[in-house]
Amino acid sequence: WVLMATGRSPTNIAVIKYWGKRDEALILPVNDSISVTLDPDHLSATTTVAVSPSFPSDRMWLNGKEISLSGGRFQSCLREIRKRGCEFEDEKKGIKIKKEDWENLHVHIASYNNFPTAAGLASSAAGFACLVFTLGKLMNVKEDYGELSSIARQGSGSACRSLYGGFVKWCMGKKDDGSDSLAVQLADETHWNDLVIIIAVVSSKQKETSSTSGMRDSVETSPLLRYRAQTVVPSRVLKMEEAIKNRDFDSFAKLTCADSNQFHAVCLDTSPPIFYMNDTSHRMISLVEKWNHSQGTPQVAYTFDAGPNAVLIAPNRKTAALLLQKLLYYFPPQDKDLSRCGRPSCTSR
Ligand code: DP6
Repeated sequence: WVLMATGRSPTNIAVIKYWGKRDEALILPVNDSISVTLDPDHLSATTTVAVSPSFPSDRMWLNGKEISLSGGRFQSCLREIRKRGCEFEDEKKGIKIKKEDWENLHVHIASYNNFPTAAGLASSAAGFACLVFTLGKLMNVKEDYGELSSIARQGSGSACRSLYGGFVKWCMGKKDDGSDSLAVQLADETHWNDLVIIIAVVSSKQKETSSTSGMRDSVETSPLLRYRAQTVVPSRVLKMEEAIKNRDFDSFAKLTCADSNQFHAVCLDTSPPIFYMNDTSHRMISLVEKWNHSQGTPQVAYTFDAGPNAVLIAPNRKTAALLLQKLLYYFPPQDKDLSRCGRPSCTSR
């Protein structure tokens, strides 16, 4: 027999960034972070997992190509889910799995991203969130999403936030074993329905410095990172929670832009400095800043992760349409790959 489960998880975009670990192995961050989860129709991972007594080993395929499962992060997620597997029985199919059997049954995993990996946007967040969620479903795991998020965290930090829709906070936690470092939902996907998120793909090249090694270097060398984590983020997180609760776009936009800029300032403060944004990213920031300044109040927010692609957030469809017009005028798509994937993708949550 073969038993299967399928799940889908969207990626998430941090508006208060996670940058820096206090424990590398358990993936425990130096500060809380807040994100917005995208609509699953855009930028999501779909994963099917199968288990069968006839599988001799664990195997995984990503976008149709077999990849190694030997990495510590995959192994942590598999181990933690297996530990929590529960009894399962399907009399019709003659399947009976005892709790302790999960440790010895091997899995086959097939995962797909619905966005070209080459665009550098298919983040590990959606992938690990989906892997943990789907394995949990297959192994009849009874734990709640909070507990699952702390397992997904061990795959990739930002993945813990993709277990929920809407606005999500990753609480850094205090405990050494990481059991209190998990995600909580601040507001569900219906709370601020008007927001429109536009992802402008600036470059389809893979990033030169991975988030993992970039943040390791920042922790080791950037004095600004320490100041940010201890002094800036705690009060900024409170203000962001308030802005989200009140759907206060003005405050939300200011905090989002400021936090993105400080994250990239930490990257510059790292030795050797890390440059994730390029000239086009900087020109996009200028465009938005000038527009916001000319109106006296934020029209659009921007945020950039560990790469040059812009994530632009508009308060409603009307402003999003105006923004798209401006983007297409000032930044006409040139990359052939991008015209294939439909220009900058317009994603409403
Ligand atoms: C800039 O979660 O990819 O996107 O935990 O080492 O896998 P690891 O890093 P990752 O880092 C994401 C960093 C970021 C900010 C964020 O998503 O909060």
